[in-house]
Amino acid sequence: MKAYEVKVLGTGMYAPKKIVTNIDLESIVETNDQWIFERTGIRERHICSTEGGEFPTDMALNATRDALKAANLQPNDIDLILFASVTPDVKLPNSATILQVKLGITNNCACLDIAAACSGFVYGFNMASAMIKTGMIKNALIVGSEMLSREVNWKDRNTCILFGDGCGVAIIGRAEEGSDSLVYSSVMSADGTGGEFFDQPVGGSVTPITKEHLDEGSHFMQMKGKEMFKVATRTLAENAQKVITEANLTLADIDWVVPHQANIRIIETTAKLIGVEMDKMIVNIHKYGNTSAATVPIAFHEAIMDGRIKRGNIVLFDAFGAGLTAGATLIKY
Ligand code: UT7
Repeated sequence: MKAYEVKVLGTGMYAPKKIVTNIDLESIVETNDQWIFERTGIRERHICSTEGGEFPTDMALNATRDALKAANLQPNDIDLILFASVTPDVKLPNSATILQVKLGITNNCACLDIAAACSGFVYGFNMASAMIKTGMIKNALIVGSEMLSREVNWKDRNTCILFGDGCGVAIIGRAEEGSDSLVYSSVMSADGTGGEFFDQPVGGSVTPITKEHLDEGSHFMQMKGKEMFKVATRTLAENAQKVITEANLTLADIDWVVPHQANIRIIETTAKLIGVEMDKMIVNIHKYGNTSAATVPIAFHEAIMDGRIKRGNIVLFDAFGAGLTAGATLIKY
């Protein structure tokens, strides 16, 4: 079987127009700008309009249009859509198929949603690159798009201050002859025994939502922050080290780390554990908060757009989330 190399052909993002600052939150829950910024690094987050036009597949459509332009591709060049989200537009059909129609794709490309929470984009990136490497597909669109504002309890200060809405995408494809872009190594892992640290047990087949749940607010996402924090830093550092070792590279070779943006203190601790200086970590949590599957592709796109990440740079994606899922990827951009 012929092996191909993988190249990031284009990226895009969409941030909802409405911005909610920490100061705005002071009038919603008992909190303050200083606490939120010091404990999380967040200053503001973007929140989708519920009037329409900013639901997860709408954001993905906007972001994908930019990625297609950057990749110099047409919608029908896409062979696979992987849509990572825990807040899809609807339960059925999957968001990837809704996006396929919105993009005007008529080639019947495969469409799959990935429910791996904050690791969803990295899971998608790794799965699509494996399929490109074997020649099974040529170009894949990987989306991380979330409307978490719908699923957080706006009365719970432990969670509502942390999350935001947004979308990031990447189109990856077979690297052309002579290109030195590649995927060196990737890892995906999960430890289901930590599922209860971050869950949303009400609303599924086991416990459909009742009026009582709605009254209590028990149908929203709930998180044990301290437990998540500990596992997050350990796992992010372990997976980063795994992909670097597997690629036969050293820390000095890494130009940029694009970590999941859950908390600036998680990013700082992970950097220390890996042994990377903070100036190599791409950080934008102050502007968007935690947008789950969208954090890595948004941060990646922004760093490409502002010229930090350049062709030939070695970039490490590192994500962790509910499940508990985790994934890392090491690429030459
Ligand atoms: O993307 C998935 C992965 N996500 C994560 O991994 C998140 C990981 N966890 C975290 O980022 C942090 O644990 C949090 C930001 C969620 C919480 O930070 P913390 O330093 O663990 O704070 P804490 O929960 O221990 O709370 C410290 C204090 C408490 O008061 P007392 O008991 O010390 O008097 C809280 O009641 O801060 C209080 N507090 C708040 N105060 C103002 C908790 N939330 C708030 C708030 N505003 N929003």
